[in-house]
Amino acid sequence: MTDKPSRGLADVIAASTALSDIDGKAGRLFYRGYDIHDLAGKISFEECTHLLQRDRLPTRAQLDGLAAELEAGRRLGRLVEGAVDEIAAQQSPMEALRSLVSLASAEDPDKDSNSADANQRKAARLVAQQPILVARYHAARGGARPVEADPGLGIAGNFLLQITGRRPAPREIEIFDECLVLHADHTMNASTFAGRVCAATLSDMHSGVVAALGTLKGSLHGGANEQVMRTLLEILEDRAAVQKDPRVIEDAVGAAVSERLRRGEKLMGFGHRVYKTEDPRATHLRRMAEELANSTGDETYFRMSKRMEEVVFAEKGLYPNVDFYAASVYHYLGIPTDLFTPVFSVSRMAGWTAHIMEQHADNRLIRPDSEYIGERDQKWVPIDEREKE
Ligand code: ACO
Repeated sequence: MTDKPSRGLADVIAASTALSDIDGKAGRLFYRGYDIHDLAGKISFEECTHLLQRDRLPTRAQLDGLAAELEAGRRLGRLVEGAVDEIAAQQSPMEALRSLVSLASAEDPDKDSNSADANQRKAARLVAQQPILVARYHAARGGARPVEADPGLGIAGNFLLQITGRRPAPREIEIFDECLVLHADHTMNASTFAGRVCAATLSDMHSGVVAALGTLKGSLHGGANEQVMRTLLEILEDRAAVQKDPRVIEDAVGAAVSERLRRGEKLMGFGHRVYKTEDPRATHLRRMAEELANSTGDETYFRMSKRMEEVVFAEKGLYPNVDFYAASVYHYLGIPTDLFTPVFSVSRMAGWTAHIMEQHADNRLIRPDSEYIGERDQKWVPIDEREKE
């Protein structure tokens, strides 16, 4: 092999998929041929899950069928229930989810089959259980159990209810549902690729999802949304004395961002491998952050984010990605900062599982080559003679 590798596999087409498509120059995203701008705010996360996992937008009857399956699939098994308190005491949220999904696989009735039917049932259970795992983990670390879910609320409403402990307003549910739809799938992103590589060995769906969860955790991928919030909070803390005056806050943001860029730091929530213009998901998230800033009467984080966006664009020409405004939206919705990446996993579970099914349906082992850059023609010497060299 003489070809030079593409660093980070940039521009390499690593799989064929009918699930999602990105036009990075035009800033467009499609799920199964539907423009994300036509889906966002119009379909529920459950409909989106049906579209990704079951090929099409559901009829009312199909949606009712999936909702019943999701309801039945929510129950956590004995192993997970027995371990969650200890895990919550010792592991950070994404570590815990990696452990808990792995444990859940042992109790899945279809664990030993990769057939299309078994995969479809597992995919629904994984989507149903992920928000419960996050809520159960969050409650356990406070020594409690989550409040009872309300069968009248969907995945978005119940997640907010169980995380915040208060009944969300209808508009909050709509906004969060839209967030889940926006994050559900995104072509060959790092976690989906990891999941497909695992599935392509004919390993099972839970193993693929565990690989994806471990990959989403990193700050260059799903972990960025939490880091965005931490950056905003750090800037506010640094300027605690002046934080009430909006003009002073904006100056403080400008100075802090310029300083970080001067030090060569990356600002989380900016830049993207594929989009060369605005990420279409960021357009919706910016609008939702502004709406929540207005309705909560706390404009601080939205104003700071807007200013940060202006400065990063002026200094680096970079656009915000999906993680940037998601941070303030989740904050305004009352979600704890360290659960932002778990929220991403609640949504992306729909895409991961659909990709694993797609991989299993038309499989070939994923095994690329590498460029060797080490020593050559080394000469072996017996162990006792090596220190003499
Ligand atoms: N802040 C400052 N500079 C940046 C940023 C950023 N957020 N992103 C890219 N750059 C700069 C790099 O320093 C580099 O500059 P150089 O050529 O002078 O060295 C140049 O832009 C290219 O950056 P790469 O990291 O090589 O671009 P790549 O395509 O490999 O990375 C990535 C894309 C990982 C998203 C990158 O933009 C980044 O690290 N962003 C911050 C983390 C983040 O927000 N991740 C979430 C992405 S969306 C998602 O996964 C859900």
